[in-house]
Amino acid sequence: MNWLTLPRKPEPEVMGDAEEVEAYASAAAQAYLDALDNTLVEQVLSLGCTSGWLLDIGTGPGAIPLKIARRLANLRVVGIDCSANMVRAARRAAVEQGLAERVLFFVADANHLCFRDAAFDLVLSNSLLHHLQNPVAVLNEMARVAKPTGVLLLRDLRRPSRLTFRVHVGWYGRHYSGLMKKLYVDSVRASYTGEELGELLRHSALTDARIFFHQRTHLGFIREGQGAGLRREQASATGAGRC
Ligand SMILES: C[S@@+](CC[C@H](N)C(=O)[O-])C[C@H]1O[C@@H](n2cnc3c(N)ncnc32)[C@H](O)[C@@H]1O
Repeated sequence: MNWLTLPRKPEPEVMGDAEEVEAYASAAAQAYLDALDNTLVEQVLSLGCTSGWLLDIGTGPGAIPLKIARRLANLRVVGIDCSANMVRAARRAAVEQGLAERVLFFVADANHLCFRDAAFDLVLSNSLLHHLQNPVAVLNEMARVAKPTGVLLLRDLRRPSRLTFRVHVGWYGRHYSGLMKKLYVDSVRASYTGEELGELLRHSALTDARIFFHQRTHLGFIREGQGAGLRREQASATGAGRC
């Protein structure tokens, strides 16, 4: 760490407060977050996993897994969150969108997932990492529940330097107001740098994951399972694919 590095300031792990859930769920409907979510959905679609089981960890109001389920009719989807209020909001959205048969939401803790080993073809997580008290435990759980052929994809906010923090949250946070604005600024301050994410991965079961950056605001990692090349070739040749 050098003087340019702004120290991380962790956030509370759970977003359980009804007011927070409402602020988050309604912000998720706004154009900026919606467009951001769409970039992750497109990244998922490009992986060629069109059937099997997807697990979304820290699913919140479920916007991303529901978008993916709408695009991939043969995919079955499970979303978990440790906030009962978030899970209620996600279930309501699944019913409203006619997807409740294929998209299930449960209350569960990412630190101790209630699924057997190698159960999922795709394990996804968005905007969860910066909330976690023990991120390595959660990365290990992601690795445990993914099939050897499965894909893991995590994306989160990225913490800027001490010099650029104020301008960064002012500019990228201009889309938010009220409680959501505060949640955004706190989340950026709690998020990781690329170097720190690399360090977490080195201490986890995901040493083979590849870090990526998305615009100036996000980072993440991807670990494509065995057969990734073939899966992508099939997906681009036929417009389909299977994990
Ligand atoms: C910022 S929200 C992101 C929601 C969603 N993934 C999205 O992108 O819209 C983070 C979510 O992670 C949940 N969460 C935090 N710690 C968790 C844990 N240990 N297990 C499960 N969910 C957790 C919070 O309750 C919250 O709903």
